[in-house]
Amino acid sequence: MKAVTWQGKRDVRVEDVPDPTIEQDTDVIIEVTSSGLCGSDLHLYEVLGPFMNAGDVLGHEPMGNVVATGAAVTDVAAGDRVVIPFQIACGSCWMCDRGLQTQCETTQMRKTGMGAPLFGYSNLYGAVPGAQAEFLRVPHGDYGPIKIESDLSDDHFIYLSDVLPTAFQALEYANVQEGDTLLVIGLGPIGDMAARLAQHRGIRVIGTDLVAARLARSQARGVEVLDVTEVDVGETVRELTGGRGADGVIDAVGLEAHGAGAAKAAQTLVGFLPDFIARRALMNASVDRMGAIYLAIDAVRRGGTISLSGLYAGTSDPMPLQTMFDKQVQLRMGQANVKHWVDQILPLAHETGDPLGLADFATHRVPLAEAPEAYRTFQGKTDETVKVLFKPGL
Ligand SMILES: NC(=O)c1ccc[n+]([C@@H]2O[C@H](COP(=O)([O-])OP(=O)(O)OC[C@H]3O[C@@H](n4cnc5c(N)ncnc54)[C@H](O)[C@@H]3O)[C@@H](O)[C@H]2O)c1
Ligand SMILES: [Zn+2]
Ligand SMILES: [Zn+2]
Repeated sequence: MKAVTWQGKRDVRVEDVPDPTIEQDTDVIIEVTSSGLCGSDLHLYEVLGPFMNAGDVLGHEPMGNVVATGAAVTDVAAGDRVVIPFQIACGSCWMCDRGLQTQCETTQMRKTGMGAPLFGYSNLYGAVPGAQAEFLRVPHGDYGPIKIESDLSDDHFIYLSDVLPTAFQALEYANVQEGDTLLVIGLGPIGDMAARLAQHRGIRVIGTDLVAARLARSQARGVEVLDVTEVDVGETVRELTGGRGADGVIDAVGLEAHGAGAAKAAQTLVGFLPDFIARRALMNASVDRMGAIYLAIDAVRRGGTISLSGLYAGTSDPMPLQTMFDKQVQLRMGQANVKHWVDQILPLAHETGDPLGLADFATHRVPLAEAPEAYRTFQGKTDETVKVLFKPGL
């Protein structure tokens, strides 16, 4: 089959790889009909390269049709249309029972000290073959797949695999209610979707980014937008909130925040070090870009909540702990527990009128063969690229 493979820093290629087969009783194989390109893939494209192997299949946002099931799979059968959560969890352990599927105790990556494995997400997360491919093997397919019974197009449901639960969890963690003000930092797919979900709940949303097309896209939906390169965002948010600051702040930027010059140089350097040194540098040294998180700490009101959905790695620069303590900030973070939120999100996907604008959320729909170009434009934020969906059938 054809699959999008990682070959090196900023080098992805579409290659022929062996078709997946059933290996365990609990496996499911799907034929992929849509597969998202995520901001998290950009970390692999660039700074997390030292944890990748040449030839690894990328992608973790799939939807498609079941073509084969292991003997222990009873909830889905060949022909069913399904969305697959980006993490692999068992559904029956202590953590899964508590809605913490990303910490699943059956599948947890104890060897690398990380949580549940993720599709197409490096040696840190199990080196599981990813979903930007024609077919996908789904381990723990007796629990993961979300069955879709609807005539609506894939675009209405594909985001259940990652974007929607991530944005939903970010919003839940931000602890904002109707009438509150939420600041969303980063208006990529995750920030944009979090803003849409918040507006749907009657929350006032201020959004910030540095890409004009992304600011315009959110502004068109009623978000008050601030260009982080033009204004002091913390100061402006206080002016807009009677001097107080935002009740909740979502950091939807993560590792590759712009605006920290020295850290940028260090990170670029890490990208070119031999793997074993680079791995250590990334995990132990202060090469993170903390621009977005510092902004969150500045812009949140005293006693407010910061919700981190952007992905950070390494032990990180010291945080302004004194300020965080003095402002009595609540901080919550983590990968999204997809199945914990799905039942609350599904009705929104089915709702008439498409309140979240799911049908035209994607800006680009392309065949797998165009992956190298799609990674380039998504990383460069050119061609007004916000969300790319691969359609292997095209
Ligand atoms: N927690 C989870 O489960 C989960 C799931 C999916 C994605 N993520 C993470 O969420 C983050 C966002 O993902 P995405 O798909 O939207 O990616 P993205 O890279 O398209 O979006 C990030 C946005 O932040 C903007 N930005 C960069 N620096 C900024 C700054 N200093 N101030 C304001 N804006 C800034 C960029 O211009 C970009 O628009 C990534 O770190 C990704 O890894 C986490
Ligand atoms: Zn993702
Ligand atoms: Zn589990």
